[in-house]
Amino acid sequence: MKSIDEIRAEIESFQVENAENLEQFRLQFLSKKSEIQALFGEIKNMAQESRKEFGQLVNDLRDLAQNHYNEFKATIEAASDRKTTLIPDITRPASRQTVGSMHPISIMMGEVRRIFEDIGFSAVEGPDIEDDWHVFTALNFAEEHPARDMQDTFFIELHPDVLLRTHTSSLQVRTMEKQQPPIRVICPGRVFRNEAITSRAHCIFHQVEGLYVAENVSFADMKQTLLYFAQRMFGDEVRIRLRPSYFPFTEPSAEMDVSCNICGGAGCNLCKHTGWVEILGCGMVDPNVLENCGIDSTKYSGFAFGLGIERMTMLKYRTNDIRLYFENDVRFLQQFKAATK
Ligand code: PHE
Repeated sequence: MKSIDEIRAEIESFQVENAENLEQFRLQFLSKKSEIQALFGEIKNMAQESRKEFGQLVNDLRDLAQNHYNEFKATIEAASDRKTTLIPDITRPASRQTVGSMHPISIMMGEVRRIFEDIGFSAVEGPDIEDDWHVFTALNFAEEHPARDMQDTFFIELHPDVLLRTHTSSLQVRTMEKQQPPIRVICPGRVFRNEAITSRAHCIFHQVEGLYVAENVSFADMKQTLLYFAQRMFGDEVRIRLRPSYFPFTEPSAEMDVSCNICGGAGCNLCKHTGWVEILGCGMVDPNVLENCGIDSTKYSGFAFGLGIERMTMLKYRTNDIRLYFENDVRFLQQFKAATK
């Protein structure tokens, strides 16, 4: 029989590199048929006085084998984990992430919406493809009004009643048809006009229109609301100017200019040396429009306005060609990273 010392030396020099070695180790030193177990069996054959000391030595040997086994096992398990889990080199510099930017039109839409939502307007959206009633007739456009002309409106072929909306005023009609005053809505959306594409005009653009209908709404309420908007958008120093104008759906009507934010009113190319830039159309809702939508015009009055997002964006970001907004050239779009929230 091997001595305790021999077995200890074997345990200590045993190399375990894989699961097979580990199992060999277990069979040799820890199984019921192992040499260590055989030594335990010898105890009863020994002289009474030696039994305790011998038993202690065999016990220590068994503990030694068990400890080695546990260590080998842990090492092998860790190694097999490493093989299946890809551990990156954590000292490497991180790879560069390309962060996109919001489209300037989306940024401006969001800003305009925020300003009006802060003073109680809520946004409503609706269809790009509309009918004649919601875009023209309900809005008091006379039968022969030039805006209905093929020059301006994209009609759906074979369906003179179906068209691409030329303004989001159609949503104001839809809102008034569904809801009695007080009404305070803004209507953001894409609009379409059959126009030649130039640096200043496009056949698609974006609007935010607004409508406020309640009892005793006055022209002064409209002016104050629009001044508040202009100051939030362009800063407290901005001045506004209302010029008389005409829209079929408002009476009286006006166009609003803001003092040029590039030259501060002194005169430059953008404002064509006038010091003023037009940003929106507005007016008191024509009583005919209220009646067309089922609202009592003797009880209620209201104001409406509509602004072009591209125009505002060109003014705020000082770009001089509207086509840039529709070309999706990343070199242009990347310049709006700072404004992306
Ligand atoms: N709908 C007009 C346009 O598209 C703008 C407008 C809206 C004017 C509301 C007055 C009142 O040009």
